[in-house]
Amino acid sequence: MNFTLQGVDSQTAARAGVLETAHGTIETPIYMPVGTRASVKAIEQRELLELDAQIILGNTYHLYLKPGTAILQNAGGLHKFMNWPRPILTDSGGFQVFSLSELREISEEGATFKSHIDGTRHLFSPENVIDTQRLIGSDIMMAFDECPPHDADPDYLRKSHELTLRWAARCQNQFAKTSGVYGYEQSLFAITQGGTNEMLRAESTKRLVEMDFEGYAIGGLAVGEPAEEMYRMIEVSHPLLPANKPRYLMGVGTPENILNAIERGVDMFDCVIPTREGRNGRIYTRTGILNLRAAKYRDDFRPIDEGFDNYVCKNFSRAYIRHLLNVGEILGLQLCSLHNTSFFIWLTKTARAHILKGDFQTWKAEFFARYCHEQE
Ligand code: GUN
Repeated sequence: MNFTLQGVDSQTAARAGVLETAHGTIETPIYMPVGTRASVKAIEQRELLELDAQIILGNTYHLYLKPGTAILQNAGGLHKFMNWPRPILTDSGGFQVFSLSELREISEEGATFKSHIDGTRHLFSPENVIDTQRLIGSDIMMAFDECPPHDADPDYLRKSHELTLRWAARCQNQFAKTSGVYGYEQSLFAITQGGTNEMLRAESTKRLVEMDFEGYAIGGLAVGEPAEEMYRMIEVSHPLLPANKPRYLMGVGTPENILNAIERGVDMFDCVIPTREGRNGRIYTRTGILNLRAAKYRDDFRPIDEGFDNYVCKNFSRAYIRHLLNVGEILGLQLCSLHNTSFFIWLTKTARAHILKGDFQTWKAEFFARYCHEQE
């Protein structure tokens, strides 16, 4: 993997870079659509290519449970299994073990949990999570971490982040001892923790940077803390992270969150908002969020976002999509998911263009002047 910075904003910490992987090039800042179970919900692979999605996410926790590593290995890895030719990043399962499974027990060895699907017991360790990501064949693998709740007490937060550091070292060791199963190189990113405690966040970041990973994720945020605290943690991380390595803010976020984090030096984002909210008829536009289920759109024959250059806006009206949602037609969920995903890809791509042009802050201010106009 190779990361090159092409431009840094002169007024903010915003960066434009290029990340090269075995399955192609990713231009940062980038929004990465989430395909947890080998599918970006309600969007086809060919549509993702049309949207120019340059990388998608998969999840170790879900893929390990179903279809399981044997099937993925027989298929020749996740890229072939789902026929996705471009890069894939997999989350390690750390977050999902803690948020989805029942009865988890954390020990030095790893996390034992009961599957949310059938109640069977499993152990995730730093070593077997690397092995599983080798079999999935993701271009970017994430280290196994513990993501504590945002209201964890300081003592727990410290012990948890220290455990994450020891797990990161074991992941790195297992990564070094193994190699790509399908003949191409994979890379490993570390995840910083420490909640919203500045000292712990700084310590977590410094120690992981000393270990020298290929990229760094800022984890344990967007878990219920105020946005200002999240931004403060990015600011704490910024000077400690190496400028020549990619930075990924996990699970973030709204358009506001994404642009505010780009301004603070973040390169990569993933979030289920476009698809999850899309399925509920919450639609992102350049003037704000529309709730397309509302009766006021019944005979509104304008596009979702007038003049926005995507398939959904060029071909369908608010009234038609509202009708589809109203009668429960699957196409309604598809069009809403497609539009929202296209909007988030547009957002980071446009931010990138303005970083390179040198007017990122002006563009961002103009974007928000319009964006807040029309809500719901
Ligand atoms: N997704 C969102 N936040 C996190 C985190 O802290 N750790 C992991 N592994 N995944 C995440």
